[in-house]
Amino acid sequence: MKIVKLSGVLDGFNAEDYNNSFVIPTETVYGLAARIDDEKALKQIFEIKGRPADNPLIVHVSSMEMLKTIIVGDIPGEYHSLMKAFWPGPLTLIFKCPGDLSKVVRGNSSDTVAVRMPRNPLLLGLIERLGVPLAAPSANTSGRPSPTRIEHAIDDLGDKVSLYIDDGPCEVGLESTVFGILDSVPILLRPGGITREEIEDVLQCPILVKNTVSPGEQVICPGQKYKHYAPSIPVYLFKGENWRLNMVDMSRQFADEKLGVVGFSDVEYGFPIYKFFDLGLDIKDWCRNIFSSLRELDKSCDVIFIKAFSLDHEGLAIMDRINKAATHVIE
Ligand code: TXA
Ligand code: MG
Repeated sequence: MKIVKLSGVLDGFNAEDYNNSFVIPTETVYGLAARIDDEKALKQIFEIKGRPADNPLIVHVSSMEMLKTIIVGDIPGEYHSLMKAFWPGPLTLIFKCPGDLSKVVRGNSSDTVAVRMPRNPLLLGLIERLGVPLAAPSANTSGRPSPTRIEHAIDDLGDKVSLYIDDGPCEVGLESTVFGILDSVPILLRPGGITREEIEDVLQCPILVKNTVSPGEQVICPGQKYKHYAPSIPVYLFKGENWRLNMVDMSRQFADEKLGVVGFSDVEYGFPIYKFFDLGLDIKDWCRNIFSSLRELDKSCDVIFIKAFSLDHEGLAIMDRINKAATHVIE
């Protein structure tokens, strides 16, 4: 296994180093990448992560010219406005794709492809140099919290990957927002780094949020149906006004166990805590730290308590992740 710094990859660039799948840093989370013209490496991604074959990948481009090589049809006017406002950055858009785009990338069936332009200039430089888009899901074992530091990716994937590119902790910490105009309806499929409010401000219209699927409903974004972001220990999510009293009550059941709490340093919790993870001062910090907190407490505790967040702005994306990580919801 080789770990290299992103700052050095363009100096000693050698295209052959990127023939298998490799781990890349993005502003959102670390990704497990492969060239979209390399079927063997693309298939490796699914094997290494234990990812269901029907879950399509996000394709990362470095320029508008590169985008045009993997999509067909007119780009909707709304997408032009959103790309102008948020690219490069944590927004993934769903486009119609040509029939010859790898079926592995599109999860075997769909005639659409999810594309984003990541914000990191050095990563854009690497994609430009390779001359071909990179498909990359988050670099975690399927079902585990996404990796926001290179160590998280190494913990999950170890020697199954031979090249890791490190660029320190991720700036955003939550995955990109996935958005599409599908049958003329603007739909947010996964809340993430760009908020619903920011998209609505640009489009000047309300958008539908569809980040969960009810039984029997059509699945548009296959990632929605799988278990996600979960540590190996139970996670108790406390919703509603009485969250603190409920935490105190529930803590009694875990008196003899190592109780971890993800929260805020200015809150008086009022029960013994084995390990406390401070999420930080503002909502950007909470996003940056949420996956780390779950991984960190998973290593040393028997159970995790966390309080719910309000559903506006970045809170929608944080709650999407915690709801999926939670084994118990206390209201
Ligand atoms: O921030 C991110 O988006 C990170 C970094 C590495 O770029 N990538 C990431 O990929 O989070 P992944 O595979 O963990 O999540 C991709 C999500 C999945 O929920 C998948 O179902 C959805 O995007 N998706 C991919 N292609 C799609 C398509 N054509 N239509 C609808 N949903 C799609
Ligand atoms: Mg993922």
